[in-house]
Amino acid sequence: MLTDMTSRREFLASAMMTTAFPYTELEQRIAKRDFRDITKDVLPTPSMVIDLDLFEKNLKTMADYAKKAPILLRPHVKVHKSVDVAKRQVALGAIGITAATIAESELMSRAGIRGVLWTKQPASHNNLMRTIALTRKDATFLFVVDDEAVLKRVDEAAAAAQVKCKVVVSVYAGLTRQGIANGKPAVELAQKVVGSKNMSFEGWMAYSGGASHTKGWEARRRKSAEDLSGINETLELAKKAGLPKGIVSGGSTGTYNMDHELGLTELECGSYVFMDSLYRAVGGKSNDEVYTDFDNALSVLVTVDSKHHPGQVTTDYGNKALARPTDEVKGHKWLEVATQGAEYGLLKWKDGGGEIRVGDRFEIYCSNLDMSTNCYDRYYVARGNQIVDVWPIMGRSGAAQR
Ligand SMILES: Cc1ncc(COP(=O)(O)O)c(C=O)c1O
Repeated sequence: MLTDMTSRREFLASAMMTTAFPYTELEQRIAKRDFRDITKDVLPTPSMVIDLDLFEKNLKTMADYAKKAPILLRPHVKVHKSVDVAKRQVALGAIGITAATIAESELMSRAGIRGVLWTKQPASHNNLMRTIALTRKDATFLFVVDDEAVLKRVDEAAAAAQVKCKVVVSVYAGLTRQGIANGKPAVELAQKVVGSKNMSFEGWMAYSGGASHTKGWEARRRKSAEDLSGINETLELAKKAGLPKGIVSGGSTGTYNMDHELGLTELECGSYVFMDSLYRAVGGKSNDEVYTDFDNALSVLVTVDSKHHPGQVTTDYGNKALARPTDEVKGHKWLEVATQGAEYGLLKWKDGGGEIRVGDRFEIYCSNLDMSTNCYDRYYVARGNQIVDVWPIMGRSGAAQR
């Protein structure tokens, strides 16, 4: 519940009688960037709200760490899908961004971000042609390949278009979803890149996704070391074969403060900008229960719609808004989240309790940023209760992903 609910409710009721907020002008006001009187109280729900102070703190914590380690930072944008966020990451020293799809890569490059690394290979003809077109427009664009047949098609397409593609070889690092086998197969693929005049060999990607959410810092460190042992063997072999080293990209929010010792030269972490409830539960170096290195800077603002049964209320945060049982209600650990349908959510009393009335508002920390940010089209950016900016969420699945 927002703080001081009763007095705020009374205040809102009296304000509505006299100088009612011009709800019908909300969109025009946002378009004009006129945020006067736009507070969390007047926002439509469910809506995503960024706590700007905590967000800025998260960005700075990671940027300061990277400088000190030292390790380069090429943060993943799949979690936020926002040019506004990416530009702030670059302003704090990131050397580029990492993207999950060709659509995200095009979007970020078009917005002027240099050094975009796409972490999937252009397997379809559609994606291959767009990869070539993006390389032509933006010579700093890099992408991964983990397959000889795909590499051959890239080589031929690059030759036909007379462009030089920047290729990173993706190697297995514990996730079966991608990555060529380490050692000889990986080195031979890299040699093919080096041997082509249509491609430049940029280095390696070894993303240890399984380590990111391993509970407990020591266990996570062991898992990350195990997952990255393969790339270290590959690097040894590549050195003997006379290959240039190039970048070694990987890592996550969960492993950011261990991976520079394990052989990575740059980090692809993404979730640290906002954090989600599942990440908070993995524990950190100083606290095994809660991962406190980064704060929850993003919440979903929801409204209580209906209340007729003991121990529960209905909200507008349902399946379409991606409510999950692992979500957390800010400031109210005694509540748990469930859903009752597409537009119907549920808050249930777990233990303890308090009074909740229809019209009350809560802020909810979502379970997985990648999935949740995909359901909303904008972030309302807040300093305290006041909205100070609105940032579009772009490159989402559906039309924008094409
Ligand atoms: C290839 C790749 N790199 C990096 C990340 C970022 O990880 P995190 O959001 O855990 O920091 C992801 C996330 O899924 C990923 O798929």
